[in-house]
Amino acid sequence: MEERSAPLPYPGGWFCVGRVRDLPPGRLRTVRLMGEDVVLYRTGRGAVRAVGPHCPHLGAHFGAGGTVRGEDLVCPFHGFAFGPDGSCTGSPDGVRFRGSLARRHLCERDGMLFVWCAPGGGPEGGPPGWELPPPVGVRPLAWWSGEVVSHPQEVMENSVDFRHVRVLHGLDTRETAPPEAAGPLFTIHQRTTTRFPGLGAVSLEQPVTLVGLGMMRLVAELPQLGSGLRVWVLPTPVAPWRTGVRVAVTATAPLPGIGEVRAVDRAASWAALRATVRIIEQDRPVLAHKRYLAQPRLVPGERSIGLFRRWARQFYPEPAPGFHAEPVPGLRSEPQAGLRPGPDAAG
Ligand code: FES
Ligand SMILES: [Fe+2]
Repeated sequence: MEERSAPLPYPGGWFCVGRVRDLPPGRLRTVRLMGEDVVLYRTGRGAVRAVGPHCPHLGAHFGAGGTVRGEDLVCPFHGFAFGPDGSCTGSPDGVRFRGSLARRHLCERDGMLFVWCAPGGGPEGGPPGWELPPPVGVRPLAWWSGEVVSHPQEVMENSVDFRHVRVLHGLDTRETAPPEAAGPLFTIHQRTTTRFPGLGAVSLEQPVTLVGLGMMRLVAELPQLGSGLRVWVLPTPVAPWRTGVRVAVTATAPLPGIGEVRAVDRAASWAALRATVRIIEQDRPVLAHKRYLAQPRLVPGERSIGLFRRWARQFYPEPAPGFHAEPVPGLRSEPQAGLRPGPDAAG
């Protein structure tokens, strides 16, 4: 059968739009999400809000001159003000109207901001279909953001593509058990063996959890190094085949920090961030030129790619052309705990 290019549509889910610290009280920022602008602002008392960009009065863009005044967002065009609940609270001449802002669902986790976005969800992005897992309880000490010519699913698929991890990135990473899917979570079990100066070969066994198609989270305790490591890779769909990628890292040494984050934690976090970004830079040209194949020729040892694709289907309202209806070769469906069988699941 002829292979067809089947670009994927936008997936629904929670997508990172930045850090809380980059939005101090009184500040407003415009971010791009699925081909639309979203305006983020933080009120004087510190509440963060995400809204559709256009004023309900006559459609001015809040990002083009809008301001935050106390708890209100103020439109640059006629000065109508909107409170944190989205309703109109006043104007320069005291007139009010009954329009309200298109408020977006926003969630804060570990110092990062996530906006819910479902394709076809209208200016409000639709109601959230699931919740992000609880916070890890740290804030990122090192942070990077960039963009790739790709799709969140393609970026995420790399985490179950262990052959490319060895060949393209030169890392000795092996899968230790089949992945587990539970609703919007997909947990990958893996072990990476690496050499550290003075320590020789060290094996790091750490599960990686995918949270929808917007968050890849690694939480590892590294007893050999006496430290803990948390890494987030956060793809955000910006345009049909353009994806923002943010990386956050928090590395901690064994002694609890007193007051300020210790310099050693910060240095370790930046070192881990550089290693992660190097991996993304190695992926970047491959992602930019590869074609999404709905029917990849998977070989033995790549079953998890098929499982990942089946799990990922839940994030699309409509099947992508050639994506839903065709079986994934090499995927024999022995049902996994928590895996929702797809409509093409073979018995
Ligand atoms: S368009 Fe916003 S106040 Fe008129
Ligand atoms: Fe990669």
